[in-house]
Amino acid sequence: MDGGSEARLRPLGLLAELTHRCPLGCPYCSNPLALDPRDVELDAATWGRIFREAAALGVLQTHLSGGEPGARRDLVEITASAHDAGLYTNLITSGVGITATRLAELVEAGLDHVQVSIQDSFEASADHIAGYRGAFHRKQELARYAVQLKLPLTVNAVIHRANIDRVGAMVELALELGAKRIEVAHVQYYGWALKNRAVLMPTREQVDRAATVVEQLRERHHGRIVIDAVAPDYYAPYPKPCMGGWGRRSLNVTPAGKVLPCHAAETIPGLEFWWVHTHTLAEIWHDSPAFNAFRGTEWMKQPCKSCPRRERDFGGCRCQAFALTGDAAAADPVCHLSPDRAHVTALAAVRDEAPYLYRRMEARVQFEQTS
Ligand code: SF4
Ligand code: FES
Repeated sequence: MDGGSEARLRPLGLLAELTHRCPLGCPYCSNPLALDPRDVELDAATWGRIFREAAALGVLQTHLSGGEPGARRDLVEITASAHDAGLYTNLITSGVGITATRLAELVEAGLDHVQVSIQDSFEASADHIAGYRGAFHRKQELARYAVQLKLPLTVNAVIHRANIDRVGAMVELALELGAKRIEVAHVQYYGWALKNRAVLMPTREQVDRAATVVEQLRERHHGRIVIDAVAPDYYAPYPKPCMGGWGRRSLNVTPAGKVLPCHAAETIPGLEFWWVHTHTLAEIWHDSPAFNAFRGTEWMKQPCKSCPRRERDFGGCRCQAFALTGDAAAADPVCHLSPDRAHVTALAAVRDEAPYLYRRMEARVQFEQTS
């Protein structure tokens, strides 16, 4: 399919990054290295317009994300506007900063779903990884409030060397919390996570053991919980179809209103992004240079260009290709057909036991609680 026909596809999802403010300091943070400060965040009225434009463009669901969306005092108003636009609303939260009262208000405003991340299956390790004492407890509280309010709950378990051997215990915890789905999400090494790659990288033996455990758990808990898990990039033979293909399925809006094809797109130099202040979402989706940069297959080089999988994985992740090869149009080097695959294998073998480099806002977050 060429880039022109791809542009006529309708996006299905909108990631609304409401703020970069966050109380946690996760060493694998996926937010960009340069964070948007609070004074440039879009106001609730602008988010309302974005949701209406998204719905008109064909978007079906929005992920209210961050940072920690609970840092927004107007989260209820923003959620109501997404619901009123006809979007399915999913709150992606660290669990810190959303009280029971506020969650009930969000449900009243039309919230449809909650996704909460967990860092490990026991408190000391989970709080250490999050860089926030008490996070483990508050996440569980939020999960329980969600279930009491009959909100469908997904647990997102971020996996790396320190917790991969407890993937089974994390699935059990998700079940105990009442989740209907758990995403076993291996750390993606872009942005901040690259700084901690050698500390976070699991071993091949760990990855293989975890895959066996996940298969056993899928059988044991079939019908009780859906377990989403894919092989971690650096150990997979083929790359993932990142974002379902560049500019094919979703849009990300940053806290300040820049529209990106994926959350890490700003790491690729030379792309021209458009803003919600100057263009509608439809104009951005169809015509912005960044969305068209890697649409379709025209931009591909060998080996992707003639590969039978090119419309299945779309050459993998553009941001990873740039981060590891310096060329955003190269095959994702995790692919075993890439000439750079040996580099990935070598990087996966580099490990050290240094302390985490935690992610912190420049000025420690003044975290807002509304109730
Ligand atoms: Fe995917 Fe390119 Fe590898 Fe083929 S060569 S499997 S299209 S990354
Ligand atoms: Fe940007 Fe994969 S994160 S294309």
